[in-house]
Amino acid sequence: MKNLAIVGLQFGDEGKGKLTDTFAVDYDVIVRYQGGNNAGHTVYANGKKYVLHLLPSGIIHDHTLNVLGNGMVIDLEALAEELKPFDVSRIRISNRAHLIFPLHKELDRQQEEKRQHTIGTTRKGIGPAYQLKASRMGIRMASLLNLERFENELQELAEYYDYSFDVKSYVKTLTPFIKTIQPYIVDTTKLLHDLQKQGRSFCFEGAQGVMLDLDHGTYPYVTSSHPTPSSIAVDTGFPDQFVDRKLGIIKAYLTRVGEGCFPTEYEDDISRGIRERGHEYGATTGRPRRIGHLDMVMLQHAVRVSGANELAITLLDVLTSVPELNIATQYELDGKMIDDVPAHENDLVRVIPHYQTFQGWHEDLQHCQTIQELPLQAKTYLRAIQSMLNIPIRFVSVGPQREQMIRVQEGDL
Ligand code: IMP
Repeated sequence: MKNLAIVGLQFGDEGKGKLTDTFAVDYDVIVRYQGGNNAGHTVYANGKKYVLHLLPSGIIHDHTLNVLGNGMVIDLEALAEELKPFDVSRIRISNRAHLIFPLHKELDRQQEEKRQHTIGTTRKGIGPAYQLKASRMGIRMASLLNLERFENELQELAEYYDYSFDVKSYVKTLTPFIKTIQPYIVDTTKLLHDLQKQGRSFCFEGAQGVMLDLDHGTYPYVTSSHPTPSSIAVDTGFPDQFVDRKLGIIKAYLTRVGEGCFPTEYEDDISRGIRERGHEYGATTGRPRRIGHLDMVMLQHAVRVSGANELAITLLDVLTSVPELNIATQYELDGKMIDDVPAHENDLVRVIPHYQTFQGWHEDLQHCQTIQELPLQAKTYLRAIQSMLNIPIRFVSVGPQREQMIRVQEGDL
């Protein structure tokens, strides 16, 4: 079994959770490598809806081991809540992952309020957690292995930030949970390498998407980690040369939650219909997602950055009844045509997208099991995406349930 990375090629919310759930059947170990509980992965399985923020989506499958890598930032209170329905022995947490405390959430709030242009963060303390990590002030999971040491470190941190916080009572409240997870806080890098030697297979589940990557996304309106698969090497200590398959996930249209430039955004009855049919409300914050046309300039950038070598298209069914589908193929900036994403927000905000238009369809796609069953217009739309990105589409999702997934055979498109 080839190791696999699942990567969002847009602004997150592409449906990575469903894809990870689909693949978890075949893989032994599912690994989250970056971000924290800013992510929200929704999975419909066993007649239930699961919304996962920190745990890899593989947790729903009993045979999997689920790893939270060193690149993650973890809020213990959130983890305690999320783990409740699951068997804790099925997770391993990197002893090098950083912790998020109420202090980080407070800093997140203050930074957002002070900025002239807010980022629209999830306010989960993600940015400040990575800030403290980079400034070598962070506290890592390893500290939890000695509660006295942990309490002292937390006290020092609170004093440094002049943050009034009852450290003793925070630690006391969390102590039973910390004791529960202590046996599972390990050197996950060594674990992954040992498991590889035993022939186990790995699926790496990215959170957010390439356009929210700290370096390659629409800076400064990005998250503070690296959702691109090349960060797997640093964020897990498992070299990415061992990750052969890089599955790029693309929603059949485009959404964004939070602030920041969005050249193909539109708001009318059609986009409102898409928002309702696609349940386009943030899984973490409940905010309505902004809706736009597919943006090939951004997608080509995301493919370059991620090295995606196969594609999955999700939520195709949501586009039923949209009369015409637009794909932005180039931007115009100050009278010049460009096909790369300007690095400066003030330039990106001024681009005029140029579109190629495709006919829509009226048929419900939710029962389609093969590409052949799709209406001609849907096939034409998929073929256009495939040829513009020059990567094969291997999966097409036509509904929220596990079964609503078309596996594309060679030559189908
Ligand atoms: P932060 O990650 O909370 O710092 O938020 C930074 C930006 O990333 C904001 O625009 C958030 O809305 C966005 N963001 C963070 N996590 C996700 C996600 O899982 N899906 C979509 N957007 C996200």
